[in-house]
Amino acid sequence: MKKLFALGLTAVLGLGAGAVQAAEGVAIPAHQWSFSGLFGTFDRAQLQRGFQVHREVCASCHSIEFISFRNLIDLGYTPDEIKALAAEYTVMDGPNDDGDMFERPAIPADRYPLAFPNEQAARAANNGAYPPDLSLMAKARKGGPDYSYALLIGYPEEPPADVELMDGMYYNDYFPGHQIAMPAPLFEGLVEYADGTPATVEQMAEDVTAFMMWTAEPNLEARKSMGVTVILFLLVLTGILYAVKKKIWSDLH
Ligand code: HEC
Repeated sequence: MKKLFALGLTAVLGLGAGAVQAAEGVAIPAHQWSFSGLFGTFDRAQLQRGFQVHREVCASCHSIEFISFRNLIDLGYTPDEIKALAAEYTVMDGPNDDGDMFERPAIPADRYPLAFPNEQAARAANNGAYPPDLSLMAKARKGGPDYSYALLIGYPEEPPADVELMDGMYYNDYFPGHQIAMPAPLFEGLVEYADGTPATVEQMAEDVTAFMMWTAEPNLEARKSMGVTVILFLLVLTGILYAVKKKIWSDLH
């Protein structure tokens, strides 16, 4: 019981240094996140870096279809920055009065544009494999963000000698079955971070995973602070009830 309690406590406080067992028995190393634990919060600078990685690297294959430009205000951008950002993209609109569809610059209310117009186009460009939408990905796989992070840094220079890769597949330490249709997406110095952070593979993987955690659960911080409020409320209530119980029973003894 004590052990169970300790386990629960470490999990709650986000101190757990354990590892999640993924499919195929590969252990996923636990990673320390700013948003782990009861009091965890997102790191805005990290979310902006992660968005930059998504936009410059992942977005050529993966969509984040549940995100509109205006949602990015959560990342600490100003409304003007978001307007300017959206305007860099074109979206299809219409029909106009002549019944024609037309292209126009995106506005903050528009969804973040899809990487491919449809699944067939996405598969055709990726050797038959479908790059899944990343909006909910950080929570969709066993291991959550730890898995996404491990996957992104999990490309060894050479696959193990005894592995025969299928055509168009790449070796990954953490993908179930180890053969993945996504080539290693990150290389040292691939992006030039606006805030000057050195763009190591680990840094980019961590930043883009934090960003994916935000797209998967933009209300994480509100949920956590609500949790803390509820616990405090229950503690106070317990104190009051205990005092009341003592008072009532003191008259009966
Ligand atoms: C060249 C296209 C391409 C790029 C660029 C790319 N991916 Fe992928 N990604 C894929 C494909 C294809 C798959 C499906 C792999 C499969 O099922 O074998 C995939 C799968 C994934 C998965 C799901 C793995 C699983 O467990 O199913 C994640 C997470 C992911 N990519 C994240 C990223 C991130 C983050 C980036 C940017 C740093 C990125 N990808 C860049 C093509 C790409």
